[in-house]
Amino acid sequence: MASPTRTHSKIGKRALASGNGKVSIRPGDRPIGVFDSGIGGLTVLRALVEVLPNEDFIYLGDTARLPYGTKTSEVIIRYSRENTEFLLAKGIKMLVVACNTSSAVALDAIARDTMIPVIGVIEPGARAAVKASRSGKIGVIATEATVASGAYTRTIQNLRPGAEIYTRACPLLVPLVEEGWTDNDIAERTVSHYLESLKQSGIDTLLLGCTHYPLLTRMFQQVLGRGVRVVDSATATADAVRRRLDELKLARRGARGKQSFFVTESPERFVRVGRRFFGPQVESAVRLER
Ligand code: DGL
Repeated sequence: MASPTRTHSKIGKRALASGNGKVSIRPGDRPIGVFDSGIGGLTVLRALVEVLPNEDFIYLGDTARLPYGTKTSEVIIRYSRENTEFLLAKGIKMLVVACNTSSAVALDAIARDTMIPVIGVIEPGARAAVKASRSGKIGVIATEATVASGAYTRTIQNLRPGAEIYTRACPLLVPLVEEGWTDNDIAERTVSHYLESLKQSGIDTLLLGCTHYPLLTRMFQQVLGRGVRVVDSATATADAVRRRLDELKLARRGARGKQSFFVTESPERFVRVGRRFFGPQVESAVRLER
């Protein structure tokens, strides 16, 4: 995948032009593009399919270069642009950046380069947390890069000035979830370790700022107790996408939509692990030739 910024603009314009009658497909019938650093974005796709069952989705997991959460902003922006370019070339009508790390670090760069609507997970997730919290003491767990970007803290504080936000990077949780270790004593000890300081801070809401963490929701709830609400950004993001499609009159009508999956490495592993995230509908994935 080549990636210079100018190419994105051109591809974005071409994609938009297809909505101006240059090709016969109705703009609303074009698919929605979704990308993540790998498998985790399937938690967001699952919510999208639930809320928007008639839409077609093209999902790209950059499995060859996962994790993004430990990389520099420059690299995350470059990878995110390359993913965007691939999806724009498929003629998508909207782009959902399902990866928290890419949303935190690269959303502005992507949105500047493209001519179609781009929706990330940070703002919807922050809104969901603010809505859930009574005390305004909100914990956010995420990758190192997401925490370092300060994106969740800034967005929550904009929405609720005076909120107290406690962030914690939890790098070991991504490999644990991918291994399927979401319910054993190793998961419990790791989660307890990461959440200890947040628990001490007296948070009443925990925002899951990483695509993989929803699979550990039960464990988070067990460790934090019933007094703390655990929220993730997937459903809130799907609702934001639905509203935007309605505003732009771009919703697809008619038969149930379909999902296609692309990866940059190991399609078999994506299918195997992806079923835990999404369900048996992950039947196959196409590996991109680069
Ligand atoms: N998808 C990433 C996120 O939501 C987690 C995995 C990674 O570090 O790439 O931040």
